[in-house]
Amino acid sequence: MIFRNEPVITIDGASGTGKGTVSQILATRLGWKFLDSGALYRVLALAAQKHSVALDNEKALEVLAEHLDVQFIAQENRVSRIILEGEDVTEVIRTEKVGNAASQIAALPAVRASLLSRQRAFREAPGLVADGRDMGTVVFPDAELKIFLTASPEERALRRYNQLKERGISVTLSDLIKELRERDRRDQERTVAPLKPAEDAVRIDTDRLTIDQVVERILSEIKQKKAFPAISFPMMIEFAEAGIAE
Ligand code: DC
Repeated sequence: MIFRNEPVITIDGASGTGKGTVSQILATRLGWKFLDSGALYRVLALAAQKHSVALDNEKALEVLAEHLDVQFIAQENRVSRIILEGEDVTEVIRTEKVGNAASQIAALPAVRASLLSRQRAFREAPGLVADGRDMGTVVFPDAELKIFLTASPEERALRRYNQLKERGISVTLSDLIKELRERDRRDQERTVAPLKPAEDAVRIDTDRLTIDQVVERILSEIKQKKAFPAISFPMMIEFAEAGIAE
């Protein structure tokens, strides 16, 4: 296995732990690239629906993953636009239906294997913040810093409930908790790359923390890591601006 040298920070955890928002803020503050690996699984699930590929047809999904025509168009300080076969799917991939389909196809070994090189290709200078479930364990096992975020199912469901309510989507909290537990079970019990912290991951329980507090905790972990300061000069400027330079 050949690894590139650019530094990587992995942020893994279940859905609703705030890892997407935290990862994006962190990438912006460091001026690093950002990988939303869950979006890749979601886009593949949507492509499967579009091309009438069954969610348990591993061989066909593997071929679809290899030929997936997807682009992530980064936008300064904003969520990047995601384009599938020329169509903007940024919003549609965020539905519960696509999320559940993504979780199903993510349990298939051949699908995970065929998305590996695509994910590793995001590793570019000056560095990468990678958000997912297996970033620290499988995709970037040599990452300089690995973070694993946790939160109780009730708290995560409540966060999701509030997000959906803001968007005018009506759901019940009890349904959300049920779906979340089901998705957790599938993500944790699958045989390939199950959701679990890397042995060398720093665990952060986010239940009583705001997003900003979680970001600050991670920035202080970065500061403690002796490997980081020597890596890149632009990053040091970012560190100084963020008030964390030595
Ligand atoms: O983070 P998310 O909710 O957008 O991810 C959607 C699904 O994709 C999730 O249920 C599990 C799967 N996933 C995965 O198996 N591995 C990843 N690295 C990211 C997501």
